[in-house]
Amino acid sequence: MTREVATAAEKEFHEKMHAAHMYGLWELASQMTRHPEPKAIPYMWKASLIESLVREAGEAVPVGEERRALQLFNPGLDGRWATTNTMIAAIQLLLPGEVARAHRHTPTAIRFIMEGSGGYTSVDGERVYMEPGDLILTPSWAWHDHGNTTGKPVVWMDGLDVPLVQALNAMFFQFYDKEQYPLTKPKNSSTVLHGNASLSPTWVKERPQSSPLLLYSWEKTYQSLGALRDIDGDEWDDIALEYTHPQTGGALLPTMGCWVQMLRPGARLKAHRHTGSAVYYVVQGQGESIIDGVRFAWGQGDIITLPSWALHEHANLSPRDPAILFSIQDRPVLTALGLYREEAFGDNGGHQTVASTFKA
Ligand SMILES: [Fe+2]
Ligand SMILES: [Fe+2]
Repeated sequence: MTREVATAAEKEFHEKMHAAHMYGLWELASQMTRHPEPKAIPYMWKASLIESLVREAGEAVPVGEERRALQLFNPGLDGRWATTNTMIAAIQLLLPGEVARAHRHTPTAIRFIMEGSGGYTSVDGERVYMEPGDLILTPSWAWHDHGNTTGKPVVWMDGLDVPLVQALNAMFFQFYDKEQYPLTKPKNSSTVLHGNASLSPTWVKERPQSSPLLLYSWEKTYQSLGALRDIDGDEWDDIALEYTHPQTGGALLPTMGCWVQMLRPGARLKAHRHTGSAVYYVVQGQGESIIDGVRFAWGQGDIITLPSWALHEHANLSPRDPAILFSIQDRPVLTALGLYREEAFGDNGGHQTVASTFKA
C-alpha cells in the first residue's frame, strides 16, 4: 500500500519534471554504455551494384545545379545523410563535357579517383588533374568545381565530414556566381610546391590546417607501397600508410585521415577495434574482412563501412597478388579530442569466430 502511494508520487514527480524539460540521471543510465554502441552498422556496397547505378544515373539525371553523386547511406542511421556517424561517402560521375558548378562548403572533401583519366577538380583557382588511384583534397571552404573535357566518363569516390559538421552546427554552403571559379594558379601547382614532403619550400609561410598539397598521385602511392613489400608489416593492418600533411607530418586534414594499405598475398591479419569510424574502398585484390563476427567478402571496387569500436580483421585471399585498400577515417578528430582508444582482440590467436556472411 505504501509502495503504491510512493509509485504514484514518483510518477507524478517524473511527469512534472519532464514537462519542465528536465530528466533524472537515473533515467539515462542506459546511455552511459560501458563502450561505444554505434547505431551505424558494418555494411558493404558491391562494385557491380555501384557501377550499374552510376551508369544509370548518367542517363537518368542531368548534372544540373547539384553534383551527380550517389550518397551511401548507412542502413543503421535511419535515413541520415551519413555513411558513418561522422562521414559520408559517395560515388560521383561526370560525363564528357560536363562541369559541376563552382561552390564551396565548410565540410572538407576528399576524392579518390575510381575511373577515367584527365578530369579535373579546380580548388581555389588551381586545376588538379585526375588519374585513377589519385587522392585529391578540397579543404573546408575552398572554392571548387569539377570538369571533364575528356571523351570518357570520370568516376570517383567522395568522402566528406558532413555528419560531423552538421552535429557541430557549422554547415555553410555557397554557390559561386559563375559556373567556374577563375584560374589563378598553374595546373597541379601544389604538387610543384609541396609534392616532396622531405624538402619543403622555405618561403611559404602559410601553415593551413588542411594539407596544402592537393594531389597525392597514385603513381607515388603505389611506388611507396611496392618499396615496402618485404618489410615486416603491422599485425593488424599490414603495410598501412597514412597520407600526411607535408608541413606537419600529421594527418592531411583536421577532421579526416586517409590511409592506403597493402595486404600481402595470403596475409591473414589479426582482429582489433578502436574508436572512430572508417570507410574502405577496395582499390585492387580479393579478400575478406570479418567485422563483429560477420564475413564481408570483397573485391575490387567494393566499399565497406566500419563503425566505431567494431572488431575487425582483414585477409587477402590471393596467394599471388597483393590487395590494396584505401580508407577515410575520422581518427584525427578522436585523437585531437583525447578520445582515441584501441584494443587488440586477444582470444583465439587474435581471430574472431565467424557467425555469418554479409548479404546486402
Ligand atoms: Fe563540393
Ligand atoms: Fe583498424
